[in-house]
Amino acid sequence: MEFTEYRSLLDRPVAVKNREFAPSGRIRHLIHADQLTPPFIDDLCQAADMVRLLSRQKHSADRLRQLLSHQRAMLYFTQPSTRTFLSFMAACQILGLTCNEVRDPSTSSEVKRESRMDAIRMFSSYFDVIIMRSPLENFAECCSYLMNQLAEQGMRNVPIINAGSGADEHPTQALLDVYTLKRTFDFNDREGTDRRFQELRQQYPELDRGLGGKTYTFCGDIGRGRTVRSLSIVLSQYAPTRMFFVAPEQSALRLDASLKSRLEQSGVSVHEFHSLDDQHEGQPILELTDCLYMTRIQREHDSARDAEEIDNIDLSHFQLTTRRAAMMKQFAPIMHPFPRDSLVNEIPVEIDADPRAMYFRQARNGMWVRAALLTHIFDVGGELLDLWETQPAVWDPVAG
Ligand code: NCD
Repeated sequence: MEFTEYRSLLDRPVAVKNREFAPSGRIRHLIHADQLTPPFIDDLCQAADMVRLLSRQKHSADRLRQLLSHQRAMLYFTQPSTRTFLSFMAACQILGLTCNEVRDPSTSSEVKRESRMDAIRMFSSYFDVIIMRSPLENFAECCSYLMNQLAEQGMRNVPIINAGSGADEHPTQALLDVYTLKRTFDFNDREGTDRRFQELRQQYPELDRGLGGKTYTFCGDIGRGRTVRSLSIVLSQYAPTRMFFVAPEQSALRLDASLKSRLEQSGVSVHEFHSLDDQHEGQPILELTDCLYMTRIQREHDSARDAEEIDNIDLSHFQLTTRRAAMMKQFAPIMHPFPRDSLVNEIPVEIDADPRAMYFRQARNGMWVRAALLTHIFDVGGELLDLWETQPAVWDPVAG
């Protein structure tokens, strides 16, 4: 592994590392989900709302495109991606950044045995931010250390954004998931009244606005799904929460012990199950669920030994059927980071028309929060706010 020089930096306390990802007090490199604190998320969600609403009218969209028209982004995605890649590209386009991409390392000088670190440093010569997805767990983090080292030496360096690192983390997916949840759990209706919220309250007296006090059910490949890891870490900050993890019994696919203890230490009540039909304290878990987060089985991470075992799993326990969806609360969002597996069908297409199905909205929200993140990283939040205050944008919190 050629980035061994940074390995010793990986095992340090989170607080120490997080300070290095934000050298001047504001986030420069977004590497891990635990950098997404509730106040930071609130700021980004507010910025995402502004970008979303300003984008709807030509004159304000044109002004948005001026915000970062002098910056360039490198999308370095050496692992398959559709949504994350395209929504980052769209986010750049909304703010006027020019983008370029490397998606296949066989077309770069890595085939001439250039080290990955040289490739990254070279990108930083041409671009002003590197947004990267890699099959290697700690690569994005090591790249941020390279950039910080260059900064210390007074050399050119640029921000690094982790757009998915191996089976480890996917912080910007957690950000778009939380933005989607916040919009859902605000229970805003289009008329600007809280009639819908009051009606729901009649049926569910415990219901409150916001992310806290909810039961989040994660289903599928819990062990290797980086979106589950990142989102559960973010949600653990909104105490009190309860989390149900529904996964096959195979150890690679179950909630891993370190994530479990981390969530419990943050005060989350954690429970594990092996079927969506299981019960908790005598009640079906689906009836207790306030948000269902489905995931696909991540076969690309199979070891030769896992593969055969996983082939033999009865996946019907981890599929959302219309019968199961009917058991869920009327308001409970059905989420999925996508792609869904068209052979396994963890969410059948009949559910797409259900008003609780959020997955296409999640993808669209990804574009707004990623643009918001770029305004933060390039420190143009003030300019965005000025634009918001001087433009007569139509405030409609519900529309996409
Ligand atoms: C996820 C990923 O790449 O981790 N997809 C995404 O970014 N929306 C989930 C997955 O691939 O299953």
